[in-house]
Amino acid sequence: MVFGASGGIGAALAVALREQSNLGQVETVSRGGDTDHHCDYHNEADLKATAAAIGARGPVHLVIVATGILHGEGIAPEKTWKAIDADVMAEVFAINTIVPTMIAKHMLPVLAKDRRAVFAALSARVGSISDNRLGGWLSYRSSKAALNMALKTLSIELARVNKNAMILGLHPGTVETGLSQPFRGNVPDGKLFAPIHAAQQLLGTIDQAPPDSSGTVLAYDGTRILP
Ligand SMILES: NC(=O)c1ccc[n+]([C@@H]2O[C@H](COP(=O)([O-])OP(=O)(O)OC[C@H]3O[C@@H](n4cnc5c(N)ncnc54)[C@H](OP(=O)(O)O)[C@@H]3O)[C@@H](O)[C@H]2O)c1
Repeated sequence: MVFGASGGIGAALAVALREQSNLGQVETVSRGGDTDHHCDYHNEADLKATAAAIGARGPVHLVIVATGILHGEGIAPEKTWKAIDADVMAEVFAINTIVPTMIAKHMLPVLAKDRRAVFAALSARVGSISDNRLGGWLSYRSSKAALNMALKTLSIELARVNKNAMILGLHPGTVETGLSQPFRGNVPDGKLFAPIHAAQQLLGTIDQAPPDSSGTVLAYDGTRILP
């Protein structure tokens, strides 16, 4: 299952998953793109119906949430506290923190219990509090830090009810998508990933993630990002 499957990384994840012929059915969800399901992520009844439709086909072994926003209409990452706007901040939290958490609320119950199952959400290294040396991007950073805490909290409850399932936050690196487009000036050579390359790296990270990494954030190379 890929949520946010019309986005740069989400669409590439769907392609990469479908290339792995040993996997079962791959289902894609977006708000209105060319995907198997459509869902308004901000509407809980819609999320519940989407999870029920997918769960009805059998247990789900992998859910990846690839939604998120950095900039958009009326939304720009803040360079200074003078730019903080309550409505913009609330919208960024709604998209980056609350949407993946609500997807988890409805998808964790349909995760398989008979073998390894993973719920993963795209986060970002800038959501690391201990790694924050530059400041700026207050809403995006804070919304991802809050997402990371939500994932950790969910992982503790999940471990009690499903021993084979785990939750991961994922940092994809800097990827050539619309989200990163205005902000790629300082990316070192070789560190700007094509979406399909990023997707393959993320799937490798998910595959290799040890059980005790549930609730943590892992980067594209498998290394742990400190909270
Ligand atoms: N690109 C990078 O360099 C980079 C770096 C670090 C972290 N990330 C993270 O990776 C994830 C995917 O990013 P991307 O680069 O693939 O970005 P993208 O191409 O802009 O795709 C983002 C997806 O987020 C969903 N979305 C956008 N606006 C939304 C809204 N108002 N309400 C609900 N959902 C909305 C859309 O999902 P639908 O398909 O459903 O419309 C869209 O496809 C994000 O969480 C981002 O923070 C990206």
